[in-house]
Amino acid sequence: MTQQVDKNPEPMILSALHEVAGAAIVLDADLRVVAYTDDVPELVGGPVDLGIFAPQLLCGEGEQRPVAEALAEGRAVVAEVPRPTPEGGSRVILVRAAPLMAGSKRTGWILLLEGEPWESEGPASAVVVHGIRTRDSGMKKLLRDVDRVARRSASVLVRGETGTGKELVARAIHAASKRSEGPFRAVNCAALPPALLESALFGHVEGAFPGALRDEPGHFRLADSGTLFLDEVAELSLPLQAKLLRVLEERSVTPVGGHVAVPVDVRVVSASPRSLRDAVASGAFRADLMYRLRVVPLFIPPLRERATDIELLAWHFIEARNDPAAREVGRIAPTALRAMATYPWPGNVRELENAVEYAFAMGDGPVLTEAHLPPEVRGQDTRRRPARNVPLEHDGEAGDDALPDEARRILYAIERAAGHRGRAAASLGMSRVTLWRKLKRYGLLEDES
Ligand SMILES: Nc1ncnc2c1ncn2[C@@H]1O[C@H](COP(=O)(O)OP(=O)(O)OP(=O)(O)O)[C@@H](O)[C@H]1O
Ligand SMILES: [Mg+2]
Repeated sequence: MTQQVDKNPEPMILSALHEVAGAAIVLDADLRVVAYTDDVPELVGGPVDLGIFAPQLLCGEGEQRPVAEALAEGRAVVAEVPRPTPEGGSRVILVRAAPLMAGSKRTGWILLLEGEPWESEGPASAVVVHGIRTRDSGMKKLLRDVDRVARRSASVLVRGETGTGKELVARAIHAASKRSEGPFRAVNCAALPPALLESALFGHVEGAFPGALRDEPGHFRLADSGTLFLDEVAELSLPLQAKLLRVLEERSVTPVGGHVAVPVDVRVVSASPRSLRDAVASGAFRADLMYRLRVVPLFIPPLRERATDIELLAWHFIEARNDPAAREVGRIAPTALRAMATYPWPGNVRELENAVEYAFAMGDGPVLTEAHLPPEVRGQDTRRRPARNVPLEHDGEAGDDALPDEARRILYAIERAAGHRGRAAASLGMSRVTLWRKLKRYGLLEDES
């Protein structure tokens, strides 16, 4: 059942641990692995050497090392650790660390791990690929497309409402491509008047216009061997569209006021919140440039259409702001969750991040309540309350007043863990067995009792 060395916990204890907690690692006081249960290697994506330093095993050389930091400071922690997979994507494993104490002396740690492989299509599995987090099946398909197009050099047009993550996707395409060592440059085509945009994109020579005091290379040349992200591309003026088309066709740029074309090797990823086809239909955009730019169109669904991502991303933004010295949110009140689920999020993920920021600024305490949310997000819940006899874990609601607090908390945790009881138990700080016993006691085990 388990691998272990002499001085370490009794086999019985480890096998019991395996029964109640699944994948678990026992560490000594120096954070070195002394024992682990059978399913650990698969979860961490490779063999586990006894004696290996746990932060290195879990976090590698990555910069995101919440577990490493927490353990080093002697704090218990619940954290997500992104792990690369052989396919080049990544999976998130949830790590819960509890200290092992002998009296007041810490003798080691137990790490409980949970996670689903990136390939798993389970509706619950959260993935994070190049910083893009999602649980939504449409988004997961998009991430696979990102991986696929990244390896070729085709032009990509990213469509999506404001704040859906278009730039994040463009960066992911760059990071997953052969150009990842080269520069990534982002230009917002709506931010500058045409004359300035022209020289910003294509550069200018000294004296090209009053104020052109020296040669400037422009974004295209600065992005040489890398990726240029053209945001709001539909806003380009028709003359600039003509010039952009020429640059893409000839793979060289002529700076404003110059006469010599300079070869460039740039992949263009563009983005637009509105359809280029519509812009072509209304005469505002050149059809030939549209075909050039949207060889592969990718569409990011709005946040309101990926319900499971609202909570996932809310937690991501909460964890980024949690600070033991100031405020640490450990729970989102069901009413707050309902408000967030009902609100249409016109500003999408960016607006959600701002709402969490607002909640940290306006509220305090370990529970993020509805009252902490921005007024526009609050109190949008016009849906019918669930009938008493509807099992809560199936309808996504967790506010049945007839149930004791503890039962509601458990149902809520199961809902949050997308039905995964082990993870729900971990988030509540209880074993799976305890959770199961409590579910039974409250008569919430329809199928198994
Ligand atoms: N799936 C995601 N996971 C994590 N963070 C995300 C995700 N989607 C978006 N974000 C974050 O939300 C913010 C907005 O994303 P981004 O700037 O890429 O959106 P955008 O579509 O380019 O917005 P705009 O249309 O306003 O230019 C960024 O801080 C980004 O990191
Ligand atoms: Mg953007």
